[in-house]
Amino acid sequence: MDAVVRTGASALARRLGDWRRTGGSDYVALAVAIRGLIRDGRLALGVRLPAERLLAAELAVSRTTVTAAYRLLRDQGYLRSRRGSGSDTALPEGQRLSTSGLWAPDDEALIDLGCAAPPPPVELAAAARQAAEELAGYASSHGYYPAGLPELRSAIADRFTERGVPTGPAEILVTSGAQQGLDLVLRLLTAPGERILVESPSYPNALTALAAARLRADPIPVTDDGWDLEPVLPALTAGRYRVAYLIPDFHNPTGAVLPEPQRAALIAAAYRGGGLLVADETFAELALTGRPMPPPMAALDRHRRVITVGGMSKSHWGGLRVGWIRATPALIQRLAAVRAGVDMGGAVLDQLAARALLARAGTILPARREMLRAQLDALVGAVREHLPGARFRVPAGGLCLWVELAEPVASALATAAEAYGVRLAPGPRFGAEGTFERYLRLPFARPANELVEAVRRIAAARADLDALRPGRPATPAVVA
Ligand SMILES: Cc1ncc(COP(=O)(O)O)c(C=O)c1O
Repeated sequence: MDAVVRTGASALARRLGDWRRTGGSDYVALAVAIRGLIRDGRLALGVRLPAERLLAAELAVSRTTVTAAYRLLRDQGYLRSRRGSGSDTALPEGQRLSTSGLWAPDDEALIDLGCAAPPPPVELAAAARQAAEELAGYASSHGYYPAGLPELRSAIADRFTERGVPTGPAEILVTSGAQQGLDLVLRLLTAPGERILVESPSYPNALTALAAARLRADPIPVTDDGWDLEPVLPALTAGRYRVAYLIPDFHNPTGAVLPEPQRAALIAAAYRGGGLLVADETFAELALTGRPMPPPMAALDRHRRVITVGGMSKSHWGGLRVGWIRATPALIQRLAAVRAGVDMGGAVLDQLAARALLARAGTILPARREMLRAQLDALVGAVREHLPGARFRVPAGGLCLWVELAEPVASALATAAEAYGVRLAPGPRFGAEGTFERYLRLPFARPANELVEAVRRIAAARADLDALRPGRPATPAVVA
């Protein structure tokens, strides 16, 4: 069997979109565009590119252009070729991919806006010390808890109950982050080739998980005005989907909140069609305005159609790697069996620290929200001042500002911003097929002064792009 992962010529052409936008000669523009896809994670590493002849035909350029572009990429370390066996995507030596899948230069002055994740609260140190002391209590245990440490399952269940979703510990599986929660649900409930409903745009690593499960994603359009469910509800009601994946609370990246009537409509459609809704509540605890939130999806769910995944990464710290799944006890048992085959369970020490932090949530969460409110204000002010023409809606919570640019230049801008020491997540990272070129996701997880400086640098990079309109030669700042 051929184990090589390939991308076809038409799929690559779709992802490349308007690849001539950086200007300069065609072969350089093509190389820059392919390099951009590799560096922002839309083309995975080790993927075989289409034969030169096929890509040339698809892009309506000469084969020489593609040959020269591939040669340039090879010289720069972005392609590896063995004679007669094609060209595979790669990263130059010494460069690495960051946790978010985005390319991360080793540069201390870099302001990283690729990741929507805040640093830990000061209470982390005390929680870790407490966990280390409590660990002695497990001296006679084998330490394997595929469904999670019982005390932490209870603490998470209690938090759901406080939020209006009565829950017992048997309905909770502790996972290694919400990301593993989604992965386990997909492993258990979907089959390769199946169709799944997913918001468009959506969280890139969720899209990666869907792709890894070999699912075909059908979009639920989301703008900062909200969800367009009109085409979706009849298909869900008709039983065309077994699973839909949703981020109802401060959706990543738009920041939108799914209104209660639409929550209820989705649940009713899933019930009629026999489908399940995976509600990712990663940002649910980060309401910043005091405006009332719609009830959690699970609170509206009389027929157990909702599986909730969530975690502590945004409310507390991503480095804990603690998340959860809430589902029926029977489903939790099946998920725990799947989980045992993946990693046997999470680390006891980490789970004890997570429990110690949850016990301090009453002080941690208000402080987090206050910090994020101030950072959001600073970011909004800076975007208004330095990026005139950019449009956005100020989110009521979460961590992301979804900014619409006046022109479809997000990928080029992300590349140009690197030269100014800012790492950006351009809109196409959040869509399946290279759409959202007008959008940037700007998280407000960093301190206010960094955010303001980052926006200033983005504005400078934007000015560079204007100076590089097609027809003018590309300077090394962008092409290098
Ligand atoms: C919507 C969404 N789900 C899941 C995750 C991953 O969270 P965790 O760190 O809990 O795995 C993120 C992280 O950004 C996210 O935005």
